[in-house]
Amino acid sequence: MIETKTIPSFRLYDGAAIPCIGMGTFGSDRVAPDEVAGAVAGGLRAGYRLFDCAACYGNEDKLGEVFAGALDEGAVKREELFIMSKVWNDMHRDVAASAEKSIRELQCGYLDMLFIHWPFPNYHAPFCDVNSRNPDSKPFSVSEFTDTYRQIEELVSRGLVRHIGISNMTVPKLDAVLGKLKIQPAACETELHPCFQQEELVAYLKARDILPIGYMPLGSPRRPERDILPEDVADMEQPALVRIAEKYSVHPAIICLRWALQRGVLPIPFSVHNYEANLASALMPELTQEEMRDIASLECGNRLVKGQVFLWPGAKDWHDLWDEDGTIAG
Ligand SMILES: NC(=O)c1ccc[n+]([C@@H]2O[C@H](COP(=O)([O-])OP(=O)(O)OC[C@H]3O[C@@H](n4cnc5c(N)ncnc54)[C@H](OP(=O)(O)O)[C@@H]3O)[C@@H](O)[C@H]2O)c1
Repeated sequence: MIETKTIPSFRLYDGAAIPCIGMGTFGSDRVAPDEVAGAVAGGLRAGYRLFDCAACYGNEDKLGEVFAGALDEGAVKREELFIMSKVWNDMHRDVAASAEKSIRELQCGYLDMLFIHWPFPNYHAPFCDVNSRNPDSKPFSVSEFTDTYRQIEELVSRGLVRHIGISNMTVPKLDAVLGKLKIQPAACETELHPCFQQEELVAYLKARDILPIGYMPLGSPRRPERDILPEDVADMEQPALVRIAEKYSVHPAIICLRWALQRGVLPIPFSVHNYEANLASALMPELTQEEMRDIASLECGNRLVKGQVFLWPGAKDWHDLWDEDGTIAG
């Protein structure tokens, strides 16, 4: 067990503290809800206080039993927890119902952060394969996005949500919407790992006091089948990472997490078996400048979540989701 108060925090734009590392809770279509709940219970005992949940992970009811149990037995106080959830793409027109269900299932009274999970209302069924398409899918719309966001702003004024998060955004989409929001987003959750660093996006967020939260911080070796392509690179097997890990006598996973922290990114690794070691990455010695540079040089544009299942009729291919030429496709 790690003494929770020794884990450093990041500060959000409004001064609120958020633990510098959190626990992911997406079972990647492979780990059943009970097993994820078991990991969250172990994570709480190990010292985690930040949990990255989502309506579409299909396990918030099981995680809620764990949170309620820990609160009831006095193992933790509600104000010590930082519980995040996300509105799934099929609920953009009824955010309140989605948030109220998440709060009810998580048994947490309010959410410390509620994210718009994807900036499109395009949804796919759980366990779908890479060729699955929803004919109702649409390209990004500034007015639909800002309307979804406005609904979360209302939840903030009702006291049900403390901070607003956005996810899977790009610089052009941020440019299009940021000036139209009453409450500033506190964080942006996005794919970030050594082989996919999104330096421009990270710098853009930091310059605007929006905390970058890195999902798949280890390169998600057990991600869903639909997100695996033969040309994908395995982050944790990169020789530079293996070499640095050997020096510190830790697994390369720990170096991925330490690197994220030192570049000002909050990582949310998922783990059933290694969560305590992951938390300890926040307390290990600092990587040297040279090690940070060696890891920076692993960047190779290896986006793992291409998002094919969110494509709309008429879209060219998954690159259209990510505005790579600096304009919003649609
Ligand atoms: N906003 C979004 O759209 C979005 C998208 C994807 C993910 N997320 C969030 O990000 C979280 C993390 O992403 P992820 O779960 O896909 O990928 P990840 O955290 O990069 O990788 C998790 C995998 O790494 C293994 N692992 C963890 N720690 C390890 C260690 N110390 N040594 C060796 N192996 C280790 C885990 O195995 P063990 O269980 O055996 O340890 C698990 O298979 C998700 O759970 C979810 O909360 C958000």
